Amino acid sequence: MQIERFRWMAPLCIIALLFFTSLLFAQSPSSGDDYQPLLFQEGKDVVWVPTEYKLAEKMLNLAQVTSKDYVIDLGSGDGRIVIEAAKRGANALGIEYNPDLVALSRRNALKEGVADKAQFIQGDIFESDFSKATVLTMFLLPELNFRLRPIILEMKPGVRVASNSFDMGDWFPDAKVSITEEEGCTEFFCEAFFWVVPAKIEGVWKMPKGRVVFRQRYQNFKGELKDGADKKPVKDGLLVGNMISFRIGDATYKGMVDGKRMQGSFTKKGKDYKWHAARIGGIPE
Ligand SMILES: C[S@@+](CC[C@H](N)C(=O)[O-])C[C@H]1O[C@@H](n2cnc3c(N)ncnc32)[C@H](O)[C@@H]1O
Repeated sequence: MQIERFRWMAPLCIIALLFFTSLLFAQSPSSGDDYQPLLFQEGKDVVWVPTEYKLAEKMLNLAQVTSKDYVIDLGSGDGRIVIEAAKRGANALGIEYNPDLVALSRRNALKEGVADKAQFIQGDIFESDFSKATVLTMFLLPELNFRLRPIILEMKPGVRVASNSFDMGDWFPDAKVSITEEEGCTEFFCEAFFWVVPAKIEGVWKMPKGRVVFRQRYQNFKGELKDGADKKPVKDGLLVGNMISFRIGDATYKGMVDGKRMQGSFTKKGKDYKWHAARIGGIPE
């Protein structure tokens, strides 16, 4: 926990230092068509620092953004992530508090020829509905990620989430990416984290082989299969959105969760079999 804190504190101290330095040297950013934001200029809850283009590209690659997606960038700055997503054919939305940045993003989207796909609204991310997103991106702060975490975990299983530099505490990422110096890394903000919102499976499920209790912690879970007096542990439980996998004894289970039902196939001693389960209740007290 202490190490976690220190890992977060380093970029925070740098942000604070650069922010106060920028206050000393910066002039007010201009408004209007020639508006150019200043690095570390104040924002509602976090200053403006843009995601390096190469990192934005890698974040969208991890999320496997296609034309079927609806990408929302929370605190969209100059619009670069939204514009990159729109170039991939996705519908994309930036929610940004600063109206000058919103206007700049719209101009940038026009210049890049994606104004039809890249939309921007002025608003507070904590008062906005982003529940329709299939992909969420952000470059905020640890405490803001914490505030967003319960909202994100209530989104549809399978929603992909990419965050520049800041993680989600004990909701460990499914993957990470980084950029090198040659790719534009200038020491800080060179890493991003990636998650897939997991299906909710905590509870008691009935399987042909008995009753299984799943105890879930984000995308990981463990449990126990009970068949009369016989008890077998459930190991290596993993959820990637609605995709589920786990082991019971020497059988490896794979399948899909669909609300209160799940089904798939399991492999035992080189042979494949079908399995299914139905949720019958919560964890007994
Ligand atoms: C670190 S910048 C990231 C910009 C962009 N997402 C990117 O990755 O290039 C954070 C942005 O969030 C905006 N912001 C801060 N608090 C906000 C809030 N409560 N609602 C909406 N935008 C906010 C800031 O104005 C800033 O543009």
